[in-house]
Amino acid sequence: MPTPKASVIIPAAGAGKRFAEAAASLHPGAVQPPSKAFALLAGRPVLVHTLERFAAVQAVVEIVVAVAADKVDWARQAFGDCLKGAKRLVVVAGGRDRTESVAHALAATDGGTELVAIHDAVRPLIRPAIIEEALRVAIEHGAAVVGRLVDHTIKAVGPDRRVLRTVPRDALWLAQTPQVFRREIIVHAYQRRENLVGYVTDDAQLVEAMGQAVVMVPGDTVNIKITAPEDLRACEALLAAGWPFET
Ligand code: CTP
Ligand code: MG
Repeated sequence: MPTPKASVIIPAAGAGKRFAEAAASLHPGAVQPPSKAFALLAGRPVLVHTLERFAAVQAVVEIVVAVAADKVDWARQAFGDCLKGAKRLVVVAGGRDRTESVAHALAATDGGTELVAIHDAVRPLIRPAIIEEALRVAIEHGAAVVGRLVDHTIKAVGPDRRVLRTVPRDALWLAQTPQVFRREIIVHAYQRRENLVGYVTDDAQLVEAMGQAVVMVPGDTVNIKITAPEDLRACEALLAAGWPFET
């Protein structure tokens, strides 16, 4: 059987509101990046680091990035050649929320790939070996989510901050990205997404709602999602220390 090929979707269309607000109060008057996904990390935009991690995976044939509608032309200019032609790079306009951005990008993928991996632009420290493992698990089970077994004590808390109880954590995992799916599964899940009530916070949730099995893939604690300026600093410190340490 030929090795399954993967399309990668990178949602980067968020406003990065929390990051921008914190950065503006730390450095009043300083020029801010268009959003945190384009902030400089060790001298290069966060998005470029993320793209390069996926470009290092052989099974990946294309990467579709969703950016804010008014930044599409700029992003094509700025990043169009950053994979040096090794993989197809497509830039599309995102939507009002992350799910809509992913939906737009999904529509722009090449229908010929067997797998679709979805990864936040703002997790630049993902290791290619973890991506490869997630692809493997998705081939086997249909859907794979990179995450971590919870190693903190979890408290359920009431509105007055009074602890209601300590939640047993043995079966609790934190979900990160990438989340990888066989194409027909994620396409179907996105077609049905309007039926889902409540707030959707990741792609796997749409797939779980169909009753489809989703299997966790153990990842790294330092697959940091950049939310605030200190997260960017933490990524910078890890890169300076030689992350990923295996290479
Ligand atoms: N995202 C997107 N389209 C949106 C909203 C979010 O593509 N309409 C992307 C972000 O660019 C980011 C990822 O989804 O890569 C995770 O979202 P989050 O960390 O919440 O980023 P932002 O929405 O940009 O940040 P904030 O919520 O602070 O505004
Ligand atoms: Mg957001």
